[in-house]
Amino acid sequence: MSEANGTQTSTAAGDALENLLQENRKFAPSAEFAEAAVAKPGVYAEAEADRPAFWAKQAREVLSWDTDFTQALDWSGAPFAKWFVGGELNAAYNALDRHVENGLGDRVAIHFEGEPGDTRTYTYAQLTEEVKKAANAFESLGVAKGDRVAVYLPMIPEAVITMLACARIGAVHSVVFGGFSADALRSRIDDAEAKLVVTADGTWRRGKPSPLKPAVDEALSAPGHTVTNVVVVKRNGEPVDWHEGRDQWWADTVQTASAEHTPVPHDAEHPLFILYTSGTTGNPKGILHTTGGYLTQCAYTHKVVFDLKPETDVFWCTADIGWVTGHSYVTYAPLINGATQVMYEGTPDSPHQGRWWEIVEKYKVSILYTAPTAIRTMMKWGDDIPAKYDLSSIRVLGSVGEPINPEAWMWYRRVIGGDKAPIVDTWWQTETGAHMIAPLPGVTATKPGSAQVAVPGIAVDVVDELGASVPAGHGGYLVIREPWPAMLRGIWGDPERFKETYWSRFENMYFAGDGAKKDDDGDIWLLGRVDDVMNVSGHRLSTTEIESALVSHPAVAEAAVVGAKDETTGEAVVAFVILRGNAAEDPDIVATLRAHVGKEIGPIAKPRTILVVPELPKTRSGKIMRRLLKDVAEGREVGDATTLADNTVMQQIAASLKA
Ligand code: WT7
Repeated sequence: MSEANGTQTSTAAGDALENLLQENRKFAPSAEFAEAAVAKPGVYAEAEADRPAFWAKQAREVLSWDTDFTQALDWSGAPFAKWFVGGELNAAYNALDRHVENGLGDRVAIHFEGEPGDTRTYTYAQLTEEVKKAANAFESLGVAKGDRVAVYLPMIPEAVITMLACARIGAVHSVVFGGFSADALRSRIDDAEAKLVVTADGTWRRGKPSPLKPAVDEALSAPGHTVTNVVVVKRNGEPVDWHEGRDQWWADTVQTASAEHTPVPHDAEHPLFILYTSGTTGNPKGILHTTGGYLTQCAYTHKVVFDLKPETDVFWCTADIGWVTGHSYVTYAPLINGATQVMYEGTPDSPHQGRWWEIVEKYKVSILYTAPTAIRTMMKWGDDIPAKYDLSSIRVLGSVGEPINPEAWMWYRRVIGGDKAPIVDTWWQTETGAHMIAPLPGVTATKPGSAQVAVPGIAVDVVDELGASVPAGHGGYLVIREPWPAMLRGIWGDPERFKETYWSRFENMYFAGDGAKKDDDGDIWLLGRVDDVMNVSGHRLSTTEIESALVSHPAVAEAAVVGAKDETTGEAVVAFVILRGNAAEDPDIVATLRAHVGKEIGPIAKPRTILVVPELPKTRSGKIMRRLLKDVAEGREVGDATTLADNTVMQQIAASLKA
């Protein structure tokens, strides 16, 4: 396998940046919006004065504690933080029961819209009941506090119910995105030693059944795993294989369980979930989040960054629960805040390209949170599609996952936001748990393409190679200087990797892996990853992970993967492979290798392009110079190749691609 390359600063986002920095449009909130806004300008100074005290105040405001905490932050074991020391609470009680106790039982928690057009509405009272049943059912299957539960479900209410039922009993959920393969699912089940898997027969994708249960069966087919039961939601009704004794229908176990369940308090630092994400090397990392701090920052940011008015707003975050956005801003924050939200199972173009806008109109969505890749896709489909629907309910728009180009930002504001809804571009990561950099819609004059300012109580900076803060107008590496409540508490089972990955690059600073620049106002512009992590449609993929998948195929001798600029998906996976023996004579080899990556990791990781080459550009120490391959992948003239061990390699590659 090829070795990981060193630092790469040239990214799709980075290249666009020089243009971005010419951007000088600004959109101040209207006086009316600012007047009614949840957040006021003074909040920054208040947070700055004493960060832990500021967060302690938020923790007591957004959450109900069974036992109050005695200390806001214990950083004595840095970089392992403890927030809200001594406090005890139950996440599910905070998301559900307390709202019912406060007389909000009839408020809609979830408007669910299925891909085939079926709908379900859950009030807070109903959702509470479902979660209590699921908690009882999981306990009856032997799941206890601290046990891990793998969740492999589509975007259906049972996903939220399962996560909250785990949280209620203190079990740790590990959601695996339904687009990941059986192999990827198995490695995550093994790493977390999950006891229970919750899945569905399947879902639909563009009107066609899309199975899930077969991947679970395949994942568990080889012995040596820790799973004792699989709970299966019947969703698309397709036939499934059944393992007597192991498999249980949701309808038989959960639906029939008692709806009485008393929540027990858990320590503020009790593990809430593990979520796997790609790193620069090796296997995906199990990012660990705990309870009190995570929920505080999720709920607080949901309120101030989206200007949430839970009595009147209808919130819709389009992210899948398989990603952190779905954890923080579908399952946890909206329910903790007692909001009404929309949950949609399908794709934006099924059965037609106006589906999202039809949903906005139908439920009067007022806050929409989505990703630049979706915005660019809709832009391509044309203005006339959203124009057919009444989008006047929209008052705040959010963006997440990758830098948003000013053109898409302007389109989003004009066509979806009626030229008035503020756009909040939110920078954060699986590791940060919640928003870290984002404008406050009633306070910040927003700039197309920039996430701009740290959330109150968060200390971000841009530093140079040596860790010194760069002045306005300069670029460098994005770091976080102070611990924050929703920060990851580690990598599951690997404390050393946690220190090494995030805390070794700069002393006493969290290294995010992103490049960034401060503009003349000191506002922050994100430039994309500076490591071997790609961002395809807002999903994180590791170059080395895809290279490993490629070389695990017998036809491949060597592989190098780069992220190349792509108009719709931000970046696209481009693979360069050296084939073994006469594999090149197989006319289907490229299709075979794409399918192989899909099987090893999942369809999202399939390279857009696979180029068969005779050699790979390597330095004398054997490192692949991905920078040069990126030039080829993006159709640019190849840059400085003088440090190559063999300086004819780039000509050989060019010649082979012309042939
Ligand atoms: C990486 C984290 C945060 C939830 C979704 C992705 C990129 C994320 C932005 C943004 C520029 C962004 C960064 C980051 N990213 N949001 N608003 N502007 N870049 O979570 O899979 O953990 O990926 O996504 O590169 O490091 P994730």
